[in-house]
Amino acid sequence: MSENLIIVAAGSGKRMGAALPKQFLQLAGKPILVHTMEKFLKHNSEIKITVVLNEEYVQFWDELSRTLNLKIVHHVVSGGAERFHSVKNGLDSILANDGVVAIHDAVRPLVSLKTIETCFNIARERGNAVPVIHPADSLRIASENGSSAVERSKYRLVQTPQCFEINVLRRAFEQPYQSSFTDDASVLEAMGERINLVEGNRENIKITDPSDLRMAEALIQD
Ligand code: C5P
Repeated sequence: MSENLIIVAAGSGKRMGAALPKQFLQLAGKPILVHTMEKFLKHNSEIKITVVLNEEYVQFWDELSRTLNLKIVHHVVSGGAERFHSVKNGLDSILANDGVVAIHDAVRPLVSLKTIETCFNIARERGNAVPVIHPADSLRIASENGSSAVERSKYRLVQTPQCFEINVLRRAFEQPYQSSFTDDASVLEAMGERINLVEGNRENIKITDPSDLRMAEALIQD
């Protein structure tokens, strides 16, 4: 069965404070997005890659790919207002009617091969797989009256790639958008599906601000 990958890279990256969206910033001599694509190709050199970009950056990426002489086969589609709409555009562009699709944040180049493989395998066996890690810090819930401690062992931090049987995910994305849809698992869950959690890797950080980029520079050298 074929493996498909949708890399979502249509965010504006405002938190980074850089001129370019963070997926195009250099990490160890290459754009973050290139590292992310190469990691999945290491897992499966035949994986079909769709990259979802903000419309304003489609031409920029085309030119950058030529400058870099990028040989990675992929197709590009335009994103939407929220991550949900970007994933939906990516899904609509895939022709496959069976197999598993992974949705991955472009800004997580440090996902491990083990995490990718586990997610695909469990999704094939059980319909979906979502990588998580245990929080290392204590957690508190904030309210208008202050805050109170919560039981850390009950919580998980959610990463990507989130992998799904493609047809089930397509049905989930027919639902109208809700602001609670911050990832793909939340979209599937709203349709009544049970989510299978698998172990992610702690280095699989979402590069969001300049300190994350410095951390990623250190980790990618390992
Ligand atoms: O900012 P946020 O945490 O939602 O970003 C997660 C991922 O979703 C990023 O890779 C970002 O580029 C992508 N995204 C997108 N389309 C949007 C918003 C975010 O593809 N409209």
